[in-house]
Amino acid sequence: MMRPNRWRWVAVASVVLALAAFGCDKGGGEGGQTGGKAEGGGDKPAAGAIKIGAVLPLSGQTATYGEESLAGIKLALEELKEQDGPKLELVFKDNKGDSTETAKLVSQLIKIDKVKAVLGSVASTNTLKGAKVAQEAGVPLMTPASTNVDITKKGEYVSRICFIDPVQGSVLAKLVLEDLKKKKAAIIVDKASDYSVGLAKAFRETFTKGGGEIVGEESFTAGEADFSALITKVTELSPDVLFVPAYYGDVGPMLKQAGDRWKEIPVVAGDGIDSPDLYKLMGSYTGDIYMSTHFAADDNDPKVQAFVKKYKGRYSKVPGAMAALGYDATMALHDSLKRAGSSDPAKLKDAINGISKLNGITGTITLNADRNAEKDVVILKVSPAGAKFFKRIPSGS
Ligand code: PHE
Repeated sequence: MMRPNRWRWVAVASVVLALAAFGCDKGGGEGGQTGGKAEGGGDKPAAGAIKIGAVLPLSGQTATYGEESLAGIKLALEELKEQDGPKLELVFKDNKGDSTETAKLVSQLIKIDKVKAVLGSVASTNTLKGAKVAQEAGVPLMTPASTNVDITKKGEYVSRICFIDPVQGSVLAKLVLEDLKKKKAAIIVDKASDYSVGLAKAFRETFTKGGGEIVGEESFTAGEADFSALITKVTELSPDVLFVPAYYGDVGPMLKQAGDRWKEIPVVAGDGIDSPDLYKLMGSYTGDIYMSTHFAADDNDPKVQAFVKKYKGRYSKVPGAMAALGYDATMALHDSLKRAGSSDPAKLKDAINGISKLNGITGTITLNADRNAEKDVVILKVSPAGAKFFKRIPSGS
């Protein structure tokens, strides 16, 4: 088979010209750039590369999500450079964790940078905004990590390679009832976060159906520095477990401020606390914490261990879930481009939506009719010694 004929990659020359014309290389380094940066997986973009965009929080309260995803995306691009198939060139943008910014950047990537697909973003509230723009423009957007159920409802150009919050919430409720054997939960929710509200709802439904009682719910706003009133109220509810569907930037300081008061009450959260910065922010908090997530670096699956070794060799750090998801999303997009045989948006969208049994680091990825991945959920247990693999819950259970 003649490869050059098979890939009908269009507008190769104009991609390179557009790069020069729009000064995409002037984006600056990682962390805080707004202009974006073109990358061919390290050095110069490969000739004839397909441009893909990424909108990630590289600064702000969820910056570790962006940093880790970008590291995973770049690692995948470096590997893909050596492989057969289309060459990809990355243009990434920092949304600073903001939803209005996300919508603006997705539009910019599509209209100005002329990317053929967008990866991102991470926090669901932001991805919801970006997904609407991509859907309206008819350009595929694939989120590596956003779990809110409504995201893929934006339309058939929007997909994800992770599980959804109804799955995550129900798995966590069962963990509390069956493994921790707790029946009185207090929920602490970030009212302005679609992720937090959606995950709380999913947990509440399964937990109460399974015989659990919600003894009370308290809310806060992301970025709140002083949690003392909330901590007092929650403690007075006398729960035997706390469910905190929020991000590490809030949960870390909250636990630090709770100190010994929650020591005997296990804290249960979703993937939003899966960040290396959680441990820095929570200080010397000693209570048990359980979280659901997409990947565990100490999972003895050989595929996971091979990835951990590669990532460590490249970055001298242990990868978190976001890194593995960024890597998997890039591989999934590349695989889809290969199968589509073209970067035509409609064909690429169909190929993405047909992703089936893709062997990812975060599990086997198959998109269902709603363009959500049906995957295993990993539970980590956090103690002062760090996060450890606790169990894997197979998809559909
Ligand atoms: N699932 C979170 C959201 O939708 C984002 C996230 C994914 C955070 C994975 C950490 C790890 O908002």
